[in-house]
Parts: sequence; structure tokens; C-alpha cells
Amino acid sequence: MRELTITQKILELKKEKNAIILAHYYQEPAIQDIADFVGDSLGLSIEAAKTNADIIVFAGVYFMAETAKILNPAKKVLLPDLNAGCSLADSCPSDAFENFIHLHPNHTVITYVNCSAEVKALSDIICTSANAKKLIESLPKEEPIVFGPDKNLGKYLINETGRELVLWQGACMVHEAFSVDKLKALSKQFPNADIVAHPESETPILEMANYIGSTSGMINYIKNSDCPEFIIATEAGILYQMKKEVPGKLLIPAPAVENNTCACSECPYMKMNTLEKLYRCLRDETPEVNVPEITRKKALIPLRRMLEISA
Ligand code: 13P
Ligand code: SF4
Repeated sequence: MRELTITQKILELKKEKNAIILAHYYQEPAIQDIADFVGDSLGLSIEAAKTNADIIVFAGVYFMAETAKILNPAKKVLLPDLNAGCSLADSCPSDAFENFIHLHPNHTVITYVNCSAEVKALSDIICTSANAKKLIESLPKEEPIVFGPDKNLGKYLINETGRELVLWQGACMVHEAFSVDKLKALSKQFPNADIVAHPESETPILEMANYIGSTSGMINYIKNSDCPEFIIATEAGILYQMKKEVPGKLLIPAPAVENNTCACSECPYMKMNTLEKLYRCLRDETPEVNVPEITRKKALIPLRRMLEISA
């Protein structure tokens, strides 16, 4: 009898166990191809909130799987590699963040979804890069706000909304790796290319961008723009989905400062997940992501607020 391929095995297990595979745009192509839903952090949270599956396999990073668990305490949430963390979430330990909040009493605490469940539990509203501006603008103008953990997204939001946000000084190592000098040189080489950037990138990169937005926002922009060439300043995994959407357009990854192996910026955490690990985790139903119930209940409140406001 012919041996099933790993893809076929995953599809069979998925059916047998009533499982759903949610994948972020930064995942490797084979994982994106087998997923039931591929999206940005907001889209993935919305899918996680409405699924009827018994098992959620989260092909993304730890905080994303935790978010799915916070929304679905009765479901089993699996992450193919438990070490798939996030440098931005790590830059905001919950005890230090709690002290920071106490230094700013009477402030509304808005946190970017790239943070731990404990940090979410300390927050008033969660946001993603797709809805942060809308969420801030939904609050009265005079309301003082603490924003964390990403300082680059925070600075961008201060610029966009004209509000004074008190910023936690966290950052993402992948988006801070882009080189302004190399980007300027690339832009000279491709003068007709639009630059699209994720708001986790540093200000000098964002100042050069024609469009700034979440991963799904960037995909929509290149789809709807008449421009035939783009330089993409975010994790390189997104290029796979972009090439599918606009096969005729030229897509150039923005260059990182020091990178001898490839010209682009890759998230080492996102790339820890592989098809083989995904298969094994679905087969063995481990590793599982859990959140202590007391933390989960607290974190659910700001997460629900986000889902309500961005609905
Ligand atoms: P998006 O919400 O735009 O998909 O971003 C997630 C992320 O981790 C960016 O580094
Ligand atoms: Fe975290 Fe940055 Fe990786 Fe996104 S790209 S998951 S923010 S380390």
C-alpha cells in the first residue's frame, strides 16, 4: 500500500479529530498551504473566537496560541513548537509592566496583542496593528493612555492620532533589523517601487514608506495599488501570500542590517514551526498551550473589548 504524504496525514488527522489549523502569514509556505485560515493577528483572533473545532493547532507564536486559549478555554490549543516565542513579548515582563502602570495611575492601558497572557491581564484594551488607531480614536481625547509593549508602533500611533501616549520601550528584533542605508540604496535602484512597511519598524523606515499597516493591510495595499513594484519591510514569510495575490508584480524584501545568508529579515520564532512538527503535534495532541484560569479570566476582558470595538 502507498505511504500517505505528511500533508495527507495531517488532513486525515484534522478530520478525525475535528481540528482547525490557523496560520500566520510569516509561517513557511507548506504550513500556509495546509491551513484552514491564514491571516494577521486580528484575523486569527477573530477566527479563534468563532471556531467550532475541538482542537486548534496554532501555526504561529506562543502569544497567538495563548490568545486562542484565552478565547477558548474548553478547546485544546496546540503549538507545533513550544519555543516559538516572540522577542517583542519578551521585552515586556509582566512584573516590570505592572510597576510601570502603577507609575501612571488613571491611565487607560492599551497593549498590543504581542505580549504574554499576564500582560494582557493587566490591560484595559488589547489591540493589533490592524485596529490600534481605531481603538485609540474610540477613546475620549482627554483620556490619558499607557501603550505597550512596542515603542515603534507607539511612536507611529502618536503621529497618526496626535495623542500623547506613555510608551513602554519594547521592540521586535525582526523589524528593528531593517537597514535605512540599504533601503535607501534599494529605493534608488527601484525608483518606481512603493515601500510598504509594518509599523513595528523603526521611524526612519516608516518615514520612507508609501504605506504602513498590518500584514493583511500590506497585502490589500499591493493588491489594490496600480504600482507594479514594491519593497516589503516586514518578515519575509509574507512574500509567499503576496506572490499568490499579485503574481505579475515585482516584490522585493527590504534588506536587513547584517544578514549574510539571505537579503531579508526572518523571524526565528515563527520559523521554528515545521510541517513535520505540526503533524506530530496534531497526532500526539502535544505540546498544548494553557493559561491559568485566574489570568485567563482577566485577560479575556480587554481581549473581548478589542473584538467588540473592531467588529
Ligand atoms: P500582524 O498583526 O500585522 O500580522 O503582525 C504580527 C506580528 O507579529 C508582526 O511582527
Ligand atoms: Fe514577535 Fe517580531 Fe517575530 Fe512578530 S516578527 S512574532 S513581533 S519576534
